[in-house]
Amino acid sequence: MKNLLILGTGKDQVFGIRKAKEMGLYTIGLDINEFSDGSRFVDEFYKVNIKNENEVVRFLKEYDKPIDGVIAFGVDIPEILAKVAELKGVFYYTDYKTALLSKDKYKAKRRMKEYGVRLPQFTKIETFGNLAKKVKDFGYPSVLKPVDNSGARGVLRITEDVDLKWAFEYSKSFSKSGYLILEKFLDGIQISSESFIVDGRVYTVGLSERNYEFLDKFAPFIIENGGDLPPPLNDKQREEIDEQISKCAKAFGVKNGIIKGDLVIKNDKVFVIEVALRLSGGHFSSVEIPLNTGVDFLKFAILMSLGEKIDPNDLKYTVKKYVALRYIFPNKKGSIKKLMFPKWFEEKGEVIAYDFYYRIGDKANYPVKSHPERLGFFIIASNDRQEVASTVKKAYKDTVVEIV
Ligand SMILES: Nc1ncnc2c1ncn2[C@@H]1O[C@H](COP(=O)(O)OP(=O)(O)OP(=O)(O)O)[C@@H](O)[C@H]1O
Ligand SMILES: [Mg+2]
Repeated sequence: MKNLLILGTGKDQVFGIRKAKEMGLYTIGLDINEFSDGSRFVDEFYKVNIKNENEVVRFLKEYDKPIDGVIAFGVDIPEILAKVAELKGVFYYTDYKTALLSKDKYKAKRRMKEYGVRLPQFTKIETFGNLAKKVKDFGYPSVLKPVDNSGARGVLRITEDVDLKWAFEYSKSFSKSGYLILEKFLDGIQISSESFIVDGRVYTVGLSERNYEFLDKFAPFIIENGGDLPPPLNDKQREEIDEQISKCAKAFGVKNGIIKGDLVIKNDKVFVIEVALRLSGGHFSSVEIPLNTGVDFLKFAILMSLGEKIDPNDLKYTVKKYVALRYIFPNKKGSIKKLMFPKWFEEKGEVIAYDFYYRIGDKANYPVKSHPERLGFFIIASNDRQEVASTVKKAYKDTVVEIV
């Protein structure tokens, strides 16, 4: 039996843990929270802060059983995975230094530029004076973001009516290193992608059109409201995506691995907003991609983490179902009094998954300023695209959110 080390055993990781068990693996789970949902599904659990490299290294030094592979489901810790791989002699997509670099939005873009990846115009911002000058150069709209955060925290769409001084201070407050990146905002089809790289070749299995219907409502914050699979792309655009991801793979030294992309398609050209050397979270790789394509994405991701060769034929797919993910938003700021999904969710086969991240009595923020402030989600899937759309509509109408 092979031993798989799983970093993170939260709610979002339960699918991955279940999959590993189903595959007959012995699972060793680490998480800062011993009561996390997945902690009772793993064969062994240890309380370790997986985002703290020293803690993980200390654990590894004391742990004496062999480890055959390491994986994290949707947690943004490529450098820690690379460190574990280095110490235990197991597989990870790239080396520690490159993994670390890939997480810095500015340094990663510099590297991608060297490799000819198509990017929006970008520049590093360290001072307010610098920002004021560069916004003039770039024109409106632009995007300001911390180089080292996620979940859209501190990501602002800069238009004429945004107070630049405020924007600088606000975005900076989410930057651990204190510096920011300014980019030209690209208007186009917003895409999430997830690709396997096998022997240097790209196989993009997951593609979703991100839903930005609230771009104006929550301005200047850029808040995504889920996505739709498959996205409306032609073969040429799909090929272009693989071409750009292939350049990203080279830039980060990934010959075998998984690359998650945030892309914008403008005038048939694919631009890379960012890539991450990891599995996606938020149900994309675990629920949406398998439903849409029939490809058991997590299974192949786990096999890869054990150093096994993936057969590209297993990654070929046709569209099986239309899938939509949507989030539930607060309608005002205050204390949550009621959160309820409709009764019919339990009976209707098209409703695949749904949950709230918040509980009664929790504080809700409004307007929503980052992704963790969304209240919950639901996923709808059907063979009929129209039915997905009408079920989404009905789901919103019947879901109860009461804030006082
Ligand atoms: N230059 C840009 N042009 C167009 N859209 C952009 C640009 N920069 C960011 N966005 C949009 O905002 C989203 C969030 O930006 P980014 O991915 O850089 O931040 P993040 O904190 O990593 O967010 P997330 O965790 O959602 O990926 C992007 O996925 C994209 O949809
Ligand atoms: Mg991103």
